[in-house]
Amino acid sequence: MTQRVLVTGHQGYLGTVLVPALRAAGHEVIGLDSGLFADCVLGPRPDDPPALAVDLREVTVEQLRGVDAVVHLAALSNDPLGALMPEVTHDINHHASVRLARLAKEAGVQRFCYASTCSVYGAAGDGLVDEDAPLRPLTPYAVSKVHVEDDLAALADSGFSPVFLRNATAFGFSPRLRADIVLNNLVGSAVLTGVVRVLSDGTPWRPLVHARDIAAAFVRCLEVPAPVISCRAFNVGSEANNVTVAEIARRVADAVPGSDVLITGETGSDPRSYRVDFSRARADLGFEAEISVADGAAELHSAYVRYGVTSADLEHRFTRLNRLAHLQRTGRIDETMRHVSEFV
Ligand SMILES: NC(=O)c1ccc[n+]([C@@H]2O[C@H](COP(=O)([O-])OP(=O)(O)OC[C@H]3O[C@@H](n4cnc5c(N)ncnc54)[C@H](O)[C@@H]3O)[C@@H](O)[C@H]2O)c1
Repeated sequence: MTQRVLVTGHQGYLGTVLVPALRAAGHEVIGLDSGLFADCVLGPRPDDPPALAVDLREVTVEQLRGVDAVVHLAALSNDPLGALMPEVTHDINHHASVRLARLAKEAGVQRFCYASTCSVYGAAGDGLVDEDAPLRPLTPYAVSKVHVEDDLAALADSGFSPVFLRNATAFGFSPRLRADIVLNNLVGSAVLTGVVRVLSDGTPWRPLVHARDIAAAFVRCLEVPAPVISCRAFNVGSEANNVTVAEIARRVADAVPGSDVLITGETGSDPRSYRVDFSRARADLGFEAEISVADGAAELHSAYVRYGVTSADLEHRFTRLNRLAHLQRTGRIDETMRHVSEFV
């Protein structure tokens, strides 16, 4: 059944892939984004949906009326950002997310699909962790995801179904690329320098999932009966893509002709390490992540070559932390990430 779906963060890396997937499934999509990365496009410009150009922190209940489902992606979206700006991360990722959900419930929204992360498992050792495993978030970013899951769960009732998709680390091409996620970064390094440079010791487990597979999981959450998802967490990824950083590097070297792996180990070992069990989404959502790390690396390689990506692009335009620092330096956003002048 066609639903009216509000996607927050629709101009981000995942949002730009999710919007066409929702449209292809027959839904009407409305966006909401403050446009922090709206210009950070590689290749043809995406076809954005009609949208609310507002900061998440300022959304009103009136703006949410008539919406059937919210897919909530908007956030400061990685560990380095969270570590540098723990208060702003809390304000946007936790406080504004819960506020959005409360207003959504008040406005009559029935499903609230939240983009959580497998990094809530933190340092989980070598065994497979499922959704009932203890949560040991190691960073302000991951802590904020746990808090939001808890607070959204408290809002659930027969008319309002929150669901938490604990996504593995994403990879793959999006017209609004991110180069600060591991596979996308390593393919860039291979294409531009011939070296797949790994700064850690390569040992941590880092489950990966293609952006289009994440989009497919969100689409499934709108299709299954509400009681299947209500107040539940689902890991999103595949056991086949439970890989160590060293394995990711080897698959990148296989995909980029003439490149070699170099593990420098200069940043030492990374305590964030988890291998994840994805059987719940398979059983209850009928969701199977399909795209392999090797296929994702090949896809990125050809996109980077086709669109002539440069090191400056990868380091600045497509690295969230550096892009935000640039917007602040040039006076477009303030230290709280609010726009100083008009929206981009
Ligand atoms: N990419 C991954 O590997 C991954 C993995 C697991 C979970 N997630 C989660 O998925 C979501 C999307 O991730 P992404 O990779 O697309 O991130 P992204 O940084 O590319 O996109 C985030 C979007 O949110 C918007 N935004 C940020 N603050 C805002 C605010 N105050 N008001 C309005 N809009 C705001 C930004 O402008 C941007 O378009 C995030 O919640 C992230 O934590 C991502």
